[in-house]
Amino acid sequence: MTERATPSVDGLVIGILGGTGDQGRGLARRLALAGHQVIIGSRSRERAEAAAQQTGHGVRGLANRDAAREASLVIAAVPWEGHAELLTSLAGELAGKIVVDCVNPLGFDQRGAYPLPVAEGSAAQQAAALLPDSRVVAAFHHVSAVLLLDPGVDAIDLDVLVLGDDREATDLVRALAARIPGVRGIYAGRLRNCGQVEALTANLVSINRRYKAHAGLRVTDI
Ligand SMILES: NC(=O)c1ccc[n+]([C@@H]2O[C@H](COP(=O)([O-])OP(=O)(O)OC[C@H]3O[C@@H](n4cnc5c(N)ncnc54)[C@H](OP(=O)(O)O)[C@@H]3O)[C@@H](O)[C@H]2O)c1
Repeated sequence: MTERATPSVDGLVIGILGGTGDQGRGLARRLALAGHQVIIGSRSRERAEAAAQQTGHGVRGLANRDAAREASLVIAAVPWEGHAELLTSLAGELAGKIVVDCVNPLGFDQRGAYPLPVAEGSAAQQAAALLPDSRVVAAFHHVSAVLLLDPGVDAIDLDVLVLGDDREATDLVRALAARIPGVRGIYAGRLRNCGQVEALTANLVSINRRYKAHAGLRVTDI
């Protein structure tokens, strides 16, 4: 198969909804280190500003709505419980933009993590249903926030699985993932195949608990 040219991600302004959490701050830090303008979003502007200041590297903090409005690409990094409500409320600001969903609908009990049933099939498919005017891509489900945030970790040994129905958008997000040292972004199918990618995170949580690790995935032979 002929590989298409890698799209340029230069100049992307990245907004992160729920960016005050570990995953959002971790992605903010790595993408800012890669030279991007990054805006951490929050339900509270003050919390966003505090997280941005803590993150450094020129990261700014805004309310989720303003982050969605100012960004050219938006990452949704909120817990599953708040996913539908937040995206519904920001559908206007997110119209026409690439929205990257990294949400893993998981439950936790005394036996560990397990995937929750999702009526739409996956969190990413729910996002696509709620945001018909956005270009929804799913990625970054398996990256460890601990590694993203660790200043002692220069490169992360990881393939980021990127799923979506819009080839240009998935190519762009693959290129964005590759801005994190050590990471490859790999196309892994259409959104209808995202449920098992999100659910696989429960297996990684089990692996991490058993082996005291921050395990990631590598795909062979590509
Ligand atoms: N942590 C990881 O290693 C990791 C890895 C891969 C994927 N993920 C996924 O990334 C997402 C975020 O993970 P996280 O560990 O960073 O989660 P988190 O810390 O629990 O939440 C992130 C932020 O979301 C906001 N938030 C919380 N409840 C909300 C609600 N009901 N509605 C809207 N916003 C809400 C909070 O920000 P404000 O209070 O400031 O608004 C919070 O700081 C999850 O869906 C998770 O499955 C996490």
